[in-house]
Amino acid sequence: MICSIKGKYRSIDDRQHPCSNLVLFLSPPFSCPSRKQSAPRPEERVDSSVSSSPSASASESASASATPTAAAVALDPAAAAAAAADPFSLVAPEVEALSQRLRECVVATAVPVLSTAAEYFFRAGASGKRLRPTLVLLMAGATAPAAGHAAAPPVVPDPASAPSYDTAAADDFPARPANPPFFPAPTPDDALVDSRPPSSPPPTPRRAAQRLAEIAELIHVASLLHDDVIDDAALRRGLAAVNALLGNKVSVLAGDFLLARASVSLASIRDHGVTLLMSRVIEDLVAGEVAQMSARGDELVSLEAYERRCFLKTASLMSRSAQAAALLSGADERAAGLAARYGESLGLAFQVTDDALDYEPSSSALSLGKPAAADAGAGVVTAPALLAMQGMAAAPSSSSRGSELEKLVRRRFKGPGDPARAAELVREGGGCELARGLAARHADAAVRALRGLPPPAHAHGAACRVALESLARAVVQRKK
Ligand code: FPP
Ligand code: MG
Repeated sequence: MICSIKGKYRSIDDRQHPCSNLVLFLSPPFSCPSRKQSAPRPEERVDSSVSSSPSASASESASASATPTAAAVALDPAAAAAAAADPFSLVAPEVEALSQRLRECVVATAVPVLSTAAEYFFRAGASGKRLRPTLVLLMAGATAPAAGHAAAPPVVPDPASAPSYDTAAADDFPARPANPPFFPAPTPDDALVDSRPPSSPPPTPRRAAQRLAEIAELIHVASLLHDDVIDDAALRRGLAAVNALLGNKVSVLAGDFLLARASVSLASIRDHGVTLLMSRVIEDLVAGEVAQMSARGDELVSLEAYERRCFLKTASLMSRSAQAAALLSGADERAAGLAARYGESLGLAFQVTDDALDYEPSSSALSLGKPAAADAGAGVVTAPALLAMQGMAAAPSSSSRGSELEKLVRRRFKGPGDPARAAELVREGGGCELARGLAARHADAAVRALRGLPPPAHAHGAACRVALESLARAVVQRKK
């Protein structure tokens, strides 16, 4: 069995909330049932003979069969500085090639209106930062095990962390090969566009990681196409949303089409564990959207319930695709679990920051045409309101305003003037600052998970870790 993610939040972090006696719920949402492990290998050694330099390997087949030799991995200071300054840069050529492949693949559909819709979303210059593909490719490099690295003992499962919505049985996961193929650093060839059809199996581990990156992006974009219909959105990424341009039906079907494409690509990887993980993401996304629209009563005022919704809606995709990337790179169960934890913490940090931005008057949400506190306007309860509410309620001088905000939260800001009043109270209670503090703690948790990984396989892997640390920091520092 491989590690299965458990999405329930328990309190493991006993730091006090800065404003009240809140205990933060930053917990390991996964537990790893044991599976057969290969016998520990005698030495922990790393390889520096496989580098990302152009001379490292001339072809995909060569890169797939490259065998490491033992040597201490050295982090190239220039590569580390570049990765720290711009975490996207290290895998940017591969991500660019992948974006081009996505454009070509989705446009080549027999249904013209779907290809118009998909092309519109994937067109050059309107594709966003490609956070998810970047995460997958960086994690694949970061978790590639060093040659001779002894597999860690399995993590003891914690039944208390099993979430109620976790429907897939961990026993469904097959045992993985005891000696996975060595996962090399990317070569210049890996930045060439892969022109194989989605159904064609990726020829090398690196190409498999790229296929996974593509799947993560397809699922993400499909969810946005559906989300914009649900939200009746006018804009996406500053431009007309597909539903506004081509109608709800086309937007829903285009999303379905991208999910179908993702399914074909997933099948082509031929890894049952990866298939299960990525299928669970789709289930989580739907569960998260339903939870967001149907939360009632105490669920609305609970920070824990809010974070569970954030996991389902945003962090599941990052967590499970990071875990799948680690599995494809040959990481052992423990390292794959740490990759899942990194992805989850990154996702929570990302979503909580997004929710803070929604209330920040200086944020670019406004420049994209969203009103301030658009979430409150849409009846969505997020961290700034919850943290301001709890903080104000805890201080005698502001407790009446805390109660007032709680009343607005409990009715999902549906009364006349509620969103504007909520925005005022959030400002007064310092909700944005508190939410940013919460996001920063999730980013810290992501970095801690990363630092628990076994030694990297090569200099590229070491640089990937620097980039992933920088990514966690960048996600919470963003202003848009
Ligand atoms: C954006 O959230 C939306 C999501 C992160 C997930 C939406 C999921 C679904 C609609 C379920 C269907 C899923 C699939 C895979 C088809 P937001 O509305 O908070 O953010 P926004 O401001 O970017 O719209
Ligand atoms: Mg939306």
